[in-house]
Amino acid sequence: MSRLDDTALDQIFRISRSHPEFEDRPVAQDVLEELTALALLGPTAFNQQPLRLVFIQTPEGKARLEPALSSGNRAKTMAAPVSVLVCADTDFTRHLPEVFPLSDVRGYYTDPAVREGSARTNALLQAGMLIAAARSLGLGVGPMAGFDRAKAKAALVDDPAWEPLFLMNLGWFKANPDNARLPRLSFDQAARIV
Ligand SMILES: Cc1cc2nc3c(=O)[nH]c(=O)nc-3n(C[C@H](O)[C@H](O)[C@H](O)COP(=O)(O)O)c2cc1C
Repeated sequence: MSRLDDTALDQIFRISRSHPEFEDRPVAQDVLEELTALALLGPTAFNQQPLRLVFIQTPEGKARLEPALSSGNRAKTMAAPVSVLVCADTDFTRHLPEVFPLSDVRGYYTDPAVREGSARTNALLQAGMLIAAARSLGLGVGPMAGFDRAKAKAALVDDPAWEPLFLMNLGWFKANPDNARLPRLSFDQAARIV
C-alpha cells in the first residue's frame, strides 16, 4: 500500500463538498451497486453491517419523499438524480450467523438499547465510508438532516426495523464554486496526543 496521490485526496476530501447540485445525468444501477459494495467493506463491530439504503430515483419515489422534506431541502432534493435514505437496521442480529460465523455473538445484543445503539454507531461509520466511496467513484453527495424521519420511513421503508438516520442527495460531481468552504477546527481543537 502507498499513500494516495494528491489528485485522489483532492477528489475525496479537498475539493468534494456537500453538494446542492449535480450533473444532469442519471446514476445507473450498476454504479449504485458498486457504491454499496464498497461501503459494505468498511469495518463494523462483529462485522454486523447495519447500514441500509433506500435509493430514491424514480418520479414515484421522489413524490413519496417530498412531503417529508424541510422547505430548505425540498427543491434541491427533488432535482437530485438520486436521494438516499440512509438507515440503520435495528434488527441486524438476524444476519449475524451469516456475517459473523466465528461464534454466536447475538447474546451481546439482547438489550434493545444496546442493539439499537450499536446499529446506529456502526451504520454511521458505514455511512462515512459510503460518502468516501461515492467521491472515489466521481460522484458528489449532499447529506441532510432536515426532513421528517417518521414520514420518510412510513412512505419509503418496507421493513419496520430500518430506522432512517439521514438523507443524502447523490449524483455525478458538479463543482459549486460560489459556496466558500466553512472553517474546520485545528488539530489542537480536534485532537490530543497522549
Ligand atoms: C448529518 C448531516 C446533516 C446535514 N443536514 C443538512 C441539511 O438539512 N441541509 C443542508 O443544506 N445541509 C445539510 N448538511 C450539510 C452540512 O451543512 C455540510 O456538510 C457542512 O456545512 C460542511 O460543508 P462542506 O461539506 O461543503 O464542507 C448536513 C450534513 C450532515 C453530515
